[in-house]
Amino acid sequence: MRSITVKAPATVANLGSGFDLMGLAIHQTADVVTVKERSDNLVILQEIIGDGGLLPRETAENTCTVAIVSLLKHLDSNKGFDVILKKHIAFNSGLGSSASSAVAGVFAVNALLGNPLSKKELIPFAVDGEYVASKGFHGDNVAPCMLGGITYIQSLNPLCIEQLAYPENTFIVVLYQYVKVSTAEARAILPKQYDKAVVIQQTARTAALLTGLNTSNDKLIQFGLGDEIATPYRKQLIPHFDTLETEAMKNGAVGFNISGSGPSVFAWCNGEENANQVKQAWQTFMQAEGQPFEIYCSPINYEGVFIC
Ligand code: HSE
Repeated sequence: MRSITVKAPATVANLGSGFDLMGLAIHQTADVVTVKERSDNLVILQEIIGDGGLLPRETAENTCTVAIVSLLKHLDSNKGFDVILKKHIAFNSGLGSSASSAVAGVFAVNALLGNPLSKKELIPFAVDGEYVASKGFHGDNVAPCMLGGITYIQSLNPLCIEQLAYPENTFIVVLYQYVKVSTAEARAILPKQYDKAVVIQQTARTAALLTGLNTSNDKLIQFGLGDEIATPYRKQLIPHFDTLETEAMKNGAVGFNISGSGPSVFAWCNGEENANQVKQAWQTFMQAEGQPFEIYCSPINYEGVFIC
């Protein structure tokens, strides 16, 4: 029986005004999934390593296996697979942990089946998987995890996803505090409707972000990394949000916001030196607070999921 192991990177989604639409992949942490052929047609999650026993083991409840089942159904395949999932990306961290497992699962199975679908075509099945964790169909983590770079989702059905240009010296600094924020809960606290003025402001920010990325204009990127739809409601879930933003901007970051639905936050930086400056400032502050944290500092990962 053949097997394959793949690695799917952590991601920073929303990117401020790109709520539910935009995301990027980073280098420093990734989930690793091994998929082995079975002689029957079952999909079995044999083992999860690194989750402290907290993630669901049932095929119908885990993002990785739900995504695989969705793909097999689409392909009308009667193949079965054993799955071993090594979690390196903390779940409920805002770093696309559930998306990463789902992407890794469908990418690995597709490879064992002889690549009937392209990476882009696999995205809807990974989104199906991620739904069980986030209770929303949005591919803003799934798309960059699969494709790498910065992605923009125009539509999932029909599938229309673009990879965006970005300034080549972009560095992303991510701070993860050991606080859990469930995406489903962080979505539930958002308003059901927004004022017209908020929608217009958000549109202005998204247009600025897209233009800024295309033209390497830091001022436009900074404005575009702001958000009126989610950040004002979610920042209360994130310890030290305001201080972390102040420290990032004081140390020359281009922009700052929540990563995914939090609690991780990210700073967008122009070059490695600037990124290290922000990293140092955040480390100094967090160490003074005496709270546990992790910092990832990375250029944008342009590759996405890959076979190990
Ligand atoms: N865009 C989602 C949200 C999280 O902010 O709720 C990442 O998919």
